[in-house]
Formats: sequence, C-alpha cells, structure tokens
Amino acid sequence: MYVRSVSAATAAYLGLTLTVFGATTASAGPGPHWLSNPIVYAHRGASAYAPENTLAAIDLAREMGFDWVENDVQRTSDGELVVVHDDTLARTTDVEQVFPDRKPWRVKDFTAAEIARLDAGSWFGQEFAGVRVPTLRQYMERVQTNRQRLLLEIKKPELYPGIEEQTLHVLEETGWLDEDHVSRRLVVQSFSVDSVRTVHELRPDLITAILGTPTLAELPRYAEFTDRINPWYTTIDDDWVAAVHGLVGAHGKALEVDTWIVDDAETTLKVRDMGVDGIISDKPDVVRKAVRRY
Ligand code: G3P
Ligand code: CA
Repeated sequence: MYVRSVSAATAAYLGLTLTVFGATTASAGPGPHWLSNPIVYAHRGASAYAPENTLAAIDLAREMGFDWVENDVQRTSDGELVVVHDDTLARTTDVEQVFPDRKPWRVKDFTAAEIARLDAGSWFGQEFAGVRVPTLRQYMERVQTNRQRLLLEIKKPELYPGIEEQTLHVLEETGWLDEDHVSRRLVVQSFSVDSVRTVHELRPDLITAILGTPTLAELPRYAEFTDRINPWYTTIDDDWVAAVHGLVGAHGKALEVDTWIVDDAETTLKVRDMGVDGIISDKPDVVRKAVRRY
C-alpha cells in the first residue's frame, strides 16, 4: 500500500515515516530530483574509456572526478576473490592464447596465480597492455587510496557458495567495515535476492541493493532487508519509482533506486525526471553533463 501526497513527501523529507493500511511507507511524492541530482556511478570503473573492472578503470574514474565506482566480484578455483564481470575470462583477457586447452575458460576453474598472468587490457586498447585482473584485496586497497566509494556486486553467487561471508571478510581485513565506510562509502548489491538477504543477516549495518525490477507485490518483503532497488532503465517508469520510494527500507529510510546502464543525455534526463536516486553508467561524464544544472 502506497501514499502519493505532498504530506507524505514532506514527512519523508523530514525523516518521518507513515503507517498506512498496515505497511510502512515513506515519500512517494514528486521525487528527490527536486532537491539534488542523482548520484553518478562509474560502471565497472570508467568502462567506456578503460578496460572494465581494472585498477586503470577506477583510476581513470578518479581522474574524471567520480568517487562512486561499481565492480563485480567472483572467485577463483583456489578461493581468491577477483574483480571480473563475465563468468568466463575469454572476453576481457588473453586467456584463450595463454591457456588454449582450458575452454570454456571459466573464472572458477583457474587459480589466482593463473589469472594473475593474464593481460586484461590489450583487448580494450594497446595503451592498456599488461593491465591485470585485480584481486578484491588489490581493488579495495586502490579504491581506498583513491578515496573513492564502492557499489560492490556479488556476481553469480550461485556459482560460489559462501561468497557473501568471504567478501565481508576481505572488506573487514581491508578496513572497509568500519563506521565511516559502512555509513558513507559502501553498498553491496546482487541480482540474487538470497545473496542480498545473506549479506544483510551477516552485517545488518551494511547498505544493500537488489538488482532487477521486483514486482510491486515483492517490494514490501524485500524492504525488510535491503535499502535500494537497482533496475535496468528500460524496465521502469514514474509509477514504479514512486512505489519503491513509498516504502521504508532496512535502515528506516525510503527505499532508493539506482538505474543502469545509462550512457546518453536523453535517457539520463528521462530517468532523472522519474526521480531515480542514482545512475550507473559506462560514460559517467555524459550523465554528469546532462544532469548538471549550474
Ligand atoms: O550495477 C548494475 C549493473 O552492473 C548490473 O549489470 O551485468 O553490468 O553487472 P551487469
Ligand atoms: Ca555489475
């Protein structure tokens, strides 16, 4: 059950919540774009301009002025967490040349030492030759050095039992689970609702997000253990965004929406006017230019 009224929007802005017909609700008013621009996330780093999910991609995002970066976490055969999007290494490394007999070159079939030998930059451009697939530890240390913030995606957790606990262990060891990081600099997301629920149960203070476009019927249940719903931009409209904003998430604030992958000005303004809270982009500079008001 949702509320669409100025009074509800005002209540949410003031940090209040309302109980309407038994469900906890918050603002479903005109949307937060009244007050501020959406957060812009550099998807897989500045991935239109540097090889995705590499340290070069987050360094470039930093140089371009973006503090929020997004990544994808998977696991090697010997248990190391690495930052890579596909569940095979074929598209973004030279694995087919280095290990021709290991088809289909799944991430989970290679050791960390084998993956460390791969070139994860040449496929994108010769100026990136020799760039490596980072381990999650290396990645977290660089994000910290760069004073950036991270939208961390646990990718395909069904392939990696226990990856949630292991990811939190690495975050703890790299200093990312203290109050400063948890409150302002880290969001953990997944397409797997079960994985997000597990992260919330292990660390209830962490901000989490569910990737995808849940139905309105599913949203109240998910709001019990998540804070953000992150859909593909083609799947949403004003009413859906308002419905998400109309619910209170796991940490007592209105659920928020970060949409992906928006790489052009027209779509940026369209989703901004729907009231999304964040835009995840391979071309964050294009999005920033489109939403800049002054
Ligand atoms: O952060 C959103 C986005 O990364 C989800 O899609 O396939 O790029 O991981 P994908
Ligand atoms: Ca991702």
